[in-house]
Amino acid sequence: MDFKDLLKEKVKTVDEYLEKYLPSEKEYPQIIFEAMRYSVFAGGKRLRPIIVMEACKAFGGDVEKAMPFACSIEMIHTYSLIHDDLPALDNDDYRRGRLTSHKMFGEDMAILAGDALLHHAFETMARACVEQGDIKASKAMLAIAEGAGVHGMVGGQVVDVISEGKPIDKETLDFIHKNKTAAMLIGALKSGAVLGGATEEEIAKIERAGELIGVAFQIQDDILDVTSTFEKLGKPINSDEKNHKVTYATMFGIEKASEFVETMSDEAIDILKSMGEKTDFLVKLTEYLIKREN
Ligand code: FPP
Ligand code: MG
Repeated sequence: MDFKDLLKEKVKTVDEYLEKYLPSEKEYPQIIFEAMRYSVFAGGKRLRPIIVMEACKAFGGDVEKAMPFACSIEMIHTYSLIHDDLPALDNDDYRRGRLTSHKMFGEDMAILAGDALLHHAFETMARACVEQGDIKASKAMLAIAEGAGVHGMVGGQVVDVISEGKPIDKETLDFIHKNKTAAMLIGALKSGAVLGGATEEEIAKIERAGELIGVAFQIQDDILDVTSTFEKLGKPINSDEKNHKVTYATMFGIEKASEFVETMSDEAIDILKSMGEKTDFLVKLTEYLIKREN
């Protein structure tokens, strides 16, 4: 089976579990459940949940036990995108080829749908911790909380927001990438690895690889913002220019930025490979990410 088909199958599995972990839209008050589901089922790549599952599997864990954590990280990711698109932040009308949450449901409901997804993620993980009664589950939840919180994604988002329109240096840009984007990918890798029973040494390697993959992923995102099309991205291109944002693409040019993506991915792949064949899928996923078009 080629890698794209393999990914499609995994996306299907993630979607089945998300269906199970998300409340039904028949519940009252319907509008909030509709808004939560509208954004979760908008056709995301399901990268973070797939990473949780595959990291768990790589280190010999039971993937079934990883599913509440895999789904929760996608809920958190979705909340962050809903809030990022709001008028007070990036003010975007399209995401994944569809109207953004506030365009569909109004700004009030979009804020609440984000809040609801974030809390539902922690409810789902806390329940899994109670049911599994295993310290590994609590550690997985901690890894995801750290990736999403103020020392991770939210902190990166803050620096991104206060840097808008300012001539920032590479150090600041790296802080933004490491926190806004890489922290959640590290959280995904680490939570999966912990659930799988990885050693301390393996977890340290996984964290370093996650940071490299995350920064490379964000640089690739910024490159695509310049070089891609609305059709491929599902959102307008040149949004960084619109928001007066400094990126690797504007700082170094597309060619040099692409070189950074490649060097970082190669280093991440070397680290993953140093742990043996078990990380094969994660290596293929990293290779796939640098060549992605959306
Ligand atoms: C696209 O992911 C997302 C990123 C490159 C990360 C951007 C980070 C933020 C917007 C943080 C926002 C934080 C707050 C607190 C508002 P993807 O390509 O995996 O998207 P997909 O799920 O649509 O495939
Ligand atoms: Mg933003």
